[in-house]
Amino acid sequence: SQRSIIADKLLAWYDACGRELSWRQDTTLYKVWVSEIMLQQTRVEAVEPYYRRFLDRFPDMRTLADAPEEDVLHAWQGLGYYSRARNLQTGVREALERYDGVLPQTRQEVESLSGVGSYTAGALLSIVHGQPEPAVDGNVLRVFSRLFCLKQLITSSIGKQAVTAKVREVIPSDRPGDFNQAVMDLGSSVCGRVPRCSLCPLADECIAYKEGCQSELPRKAKK
Ligand code: ADE
Repeated sequence: SQRSIIADKLLAWYDACGRELSWRQDTTLYKVWVSEIMLQQTRVEAVEPYYRRFLDRFPDMRTLADAPEEDVLHAWQGLGYYSRARNLQTGVREALERYDGVLPQTRQEVESLSGVGSYTAGALLSIVHGQPEPAVDGNVLRVFSRLFCLKQLITSSIGKQAVTAKVREVIPSDRPGDFNQAVMDLGSSVCGRVPRCSLCPLADECIAYKEGCQSELPRKAKK
């Protein structure tokens, strides 16, 4: 299969330096779904212990679907943003009823599930089904706005569309889930708010680095 230079270098870096996280061992729908919902407003290090406890208590979709809501909210205590837990349980019930517990293949169907927006749908389709779908979160917006020197406001839908289009150009069809997660790891360890370009596997490919404007990107609307 054809891989972009960016995908080649990023995946080699991920194989050597990517984090070993509980939810990367087993990429079944339920496990990826729980992890991606927990990770939306909570940092990776904080999620790990909650994730393992949650899966001990609710090991599969049926157990979660049949549990009393208060038990689910109790297991979520400490993570905050409880609407995530309610939507997760509702979404899992919908997936069991409508799709027999199997992740559908289209974005439209996946986004119809409670609590699943564009980001989560891309994460599920790429990690669970191996579809080359973007999963654009804050890390991806930062990394891609620098890689391609995208100067649109990243807080606007135009900016997000520009990033999504670039991800579609470089995401590899053989390891799309690893690619998306590698961008997230790069964005949280190397290409953070203060970029550490001397450590970056993509520095030679990065237009912002070449032009010296990496610290001015991504552009955000003034508060
Ligand atoms: N943030 C959201 N999803 C993530 C994932 N799968 N790996 C690392 N960070 C993430």
